[in-house]
Amino acid sequence: MGRPGSLTSERAHPDVTLRVAREDDVSLIRSWRNDADAIQFSVSARPVSDAEHARWFSATLNDPRKVLWVAEEQGVAVGQVRIDLDGDTGIFSIAVAPSARGRGVGKEMLRRALAEITRLRLATTMTALTHPDNVASIRAFEQVGFTRRGVSEAGFVILDLRVV
Ligand SMILES: CC(C)(COP(=O)(O)OP(=O)(O)OC[C@H]1O[C@@H](n2cnc3c(N)ncnc32)[C@H](O)[C@@H]1OP(=O)(O)O)[C@@H](O)C(=O)NCCC(=O)NCCS
Repeated sequence: MGRPGSLTSERAHPDVTLRVAREDDVSLIRSWRNDADAIQFSVSARPVSDAEHARWFSATLNDPRKVLWVAEEQGVAVGQVRIDLDGDTGIFSIAVAPSARGRGVGKEMLRRALAEITRLRLATTMTALTHPDNVASIRAFEQVGFTRRGVSEAGFVILDLRVV
């Protein structure tokens, strides 16, 4: 007889929760922003300096039109979700810690974020722009319901999802 529990747990979603980002997350979030994949697939395609990041981070935490959440798995920070609000639309930007990639954290983080966006009525449409070679990012957004809407002037894939 097999053990149904083992297969089930291998396929289970990672147990990801979201919390609001704090001032002391600044270094962690900079390290994810400056990781090689994140640089390659970012709009600027360059790393950010400590000072530039610190200014951006503080402004983001204090901007009511921006949401910054840290994803945790068993109390360990594994990713970030940022939402830039513009009227009824929110633009997603996500990153998963390099050591936590490729096992469903990105998808689960997006599922949790979408549930929060609906619960808090933050936006009615969510958009994401992703580098055309960023297969993991495009897949993660498609797997939670986003569809491709076109390509930006800079050649990034535009995906969107009606939330309510
Ligand atoms: C993009 C990113 C957030 C995805 O998070 P992740 O936890 O690694 O992704 P998941 O494990 O949830 O996988 C999502 C999908 O991509 C696929 N995938 C994951 N890594 C992949 C890779 N290296 N190559 C191809 N597909 C990949 C998964 O199989 C899954 O698709 P499936 O459900 O059809 O099997 C993460 O890789 C990351 O932080 N990258 C650097 C920053 C970045 O590019 N952010 C996006 C800008 S909006």
